[in-house]
Amino acid sequence: MSKTIIALDFSTAEEVVEFLKPFEEPVYVKIGMELTYGAGLDIVRTVKEMGHHIFLDLKLHDIPNTVKGGMKNLAKLGVDLVNVHAAGGIEMMKAAVAGLEEGAAGAKRPLCIAVTVLTSVSKEAMNDQLGIPGEVQDTAIRYALNAKAAGLDGVVCSVHEAASVHEACGKDFLTVTPGIRLASDSKDDQKRVATPDYAKEQGCDMIVVGRSITKSADPYGTYRKIEEMMN
Ligand code: C5P
Repeated sequence: MSKTIIALDFSTAEEVVEFLKPFEEPVYVKIGMELTYGAGLDIVRTVKEMGHHIFLDLKLHDIPNTVKGGMKNLAKLGVDLVNVHAAGGIEMMKAAVAGLEEGAAGAKRPLCIAVTVLTSVSKEAMNDQLGIPGEVQDTAIRYALNAKAAGLDGVVCSVHEAASVHEACGKDFLTVTPGIRLASDSKDDQKRVATPDYAKEQGCDMIVVGRSITKSADPYGTYRKIEEMMN
């Protein structure tokens, strides 16, 4: 299984199909809100029919019963990985797993990971606006432990948190990390970026890469290069 998840941050199915043409072997892609709300959930079926693995990044966050029902239907789409906000609490995360199991109906359920603290949230915003005292890193670890207690498979975290998450939750607990750039690339709007080599060094299990691949002159070649760095 590839360790690089390509973020398909496009708005239409046509752009996705065109972009994926050179990718002959199955790759792991991330379908997020932009694409889902632009192209509809049919895009999941389209990409699946092309043989690719799918991380459906819809970050569910609601009362447990609603998340359970939502996850049940997402599992029926046959995606490989889904996520929730850990801020929804342990009961909500347990409901997410229960919904996925019900939807998978005996087949292997999609993996489920939790977003800890959004990387766009600063310590000041977390303390003053969200009312959570202390350091962001401590909240992220606490949320990761909650996710593990709820039976989730891992978390989305920054490269800089991956090692502490593994230390707290065990090496088999998945760390999926965005904010990756090749040394030669622009940072775009990302504040703290890291290279695939550094992500590997920090023990990140999978990396999410968007623009470094999608805006590259040779997306497939760049993907292969990054995948080699991670393996
Ligand atoms: O283009 P780039 O590599 O920056 O894209 C990163 C992808 O990961 C985007 O789809 C972005 O929404 C997502 N992401 C992120 N930072 C987070 C969570 C998700 O960049 N904390």
